[in-house]
Amino acid sequence: MDNRELFKMAQAALPNAYAPFSKFKVGAALLTEEGKVFTGVNVENSSYGGTICAERTATVKAVSEGYRNFSKLAIAASEGEAFPCGICRQFLYEFAPDLEVIIGEDEEHLKIYTLKELLPEGFRL
Ligand code: THU
Repeated sequence: MDNRELFKMAQAALPNAYAPFSKFKVGAALLTEEGKVFTGVNVENSSYGGTICAERTATVKAVSEGYRNFSKLAIAASEGEAFPCGICRQFLYEFAPDLEVIIGEDEEHLKIYTLKELLPEGFRL
């Protein structure tokens, strides 16, 4: 699947984001090595620390369905672009240190990073 298509899937998930507190909606689309896509959105909580980012939602959906090998992740936001937070970088590193991360404001302006660039020397037990 190409980067634009994956990014559009992340954008398509945005309406499902639950972000009444920050009003900042995030959508993620995670591509497995088998070619399956899991999307995710941020899900906020009145107890703010309980909030889950879009990237982790997508990852947890995939892992809980038996998929652990990922090749690409696209991230879209309701405004501008969103880089994954530190917790999400480490969370993804567990499964896919070589993940390609696609970030942008729209499908015409995509930036591509590797997870290792975004998280050098990630933690492994
Ligand atoms: N958020 C994500 O879902 N992913 C990111 O990459 C950055 C931040 C969410 C968490 C919170 O619901 C909102 O964006 C504002 O921080």
